[in-house]
Amino acid sequence: MTEIRATNITWHEGHVQRPDRERLLAQKGATLWFTGLSGSGKSTLAFTLEHALVERGHLAYVLDGDNVRHGLNKNLGFSAADREENIRRIGEVARLFADTGVIALTSFISPYRKDRDQARRVHQDSGLPFIEILVDVPIEVCETRDPKGLYKKARAALAEGRGMGFTGVDDPYEPPLAPELSIRNDRLTPQEAAAEVIAYLESRGLLPELRR
Ligand code: ADX
Repeated sequence: MTEIRATNITWHEGHVQRPDRERLLAQKGATLWFTGLSGSGKSTLAFTLEHALVERGHLAYVLDGDNVRHGLNKNLGFSAADREENIRRIGEVARLFADTGVIALTSFISPYRKDRDQARRVHQDSGLPFIEILVDVPIEVCETRDPKGLYKKARAALAEGRGMGFTGVDDPYEPPLAPELSIRNDRLTPQEAAAEVIAYLESRGLLPELRR
C-alpha cells in the first residue's frame, strides 16, 4: 500500500477541459495496457501499433518498461514492492496521458493482478477507457526466444541456488482473468497483432474519423 505523505494540498482546477483537448486533437484519450511475460513481444507490438496509429492520424505514445526504467523509474528494482510502485506510477502517468487526449500504450510485465486492477481503477475514476490486453505467449516460447538472454541467466542463478526473482522462472505472473483482449502473439506478425487491436478499438468506437 502506498503511504500518503502529501498533506496540506489542494486540487487546482484548470480552465481547459478534457472535451476542449479532444476537439483540438480530434480524438479521445485512452490507455491500452499490454501485460505479459518478458519476451512475449509486448514492446514490439506496442511500438508497431503506435506507428500504425500515428500513420492513421492518431496521437499515440508508448510507455515501455525497459525505457521508463532508464529514467522515471530508475530507482526501482524487481521486488514485489518495487514492481507495485513501478505499476502504480505508470498507471498514474498513463492516466495523465489519456487525460490529455493521447492514446497511451503501456508495455510492462505488470505481473500482479491487483496492481493492474488499481491502474484500471484510476482510469475508471477519471472516466477514461482502460483496455487490458494480454500478450499471451507460452513461457516455453518466450524462453526459447530469450531476446535479452535473461531466462538463461535466471535459470543459471536458480541452478546455483541464489535465484534472481525473474518473472515466470522464480517470480509469479498472474494473467488477467477478464482482459478486454487476448493476443496469441507468437502466432501473428506484429502487423497482424496491431491490426487486431485496431479492429477492437474501432468496434468500441474509440477511433473516430479525424476532421482533417
Ligand atoms: S514489472 O514486473 O515491474 O512490470 P517491467 O515491465 O517494468 O517489469 O520490466 C521488465 C523488464 O525488465 C524485462 O523485460 C527485462 O528486460 C528486465 N528485467 C530485469 N530483471 C527482471 C526480473 N527479475 N524479472 C522480470 N524482468 C526483469
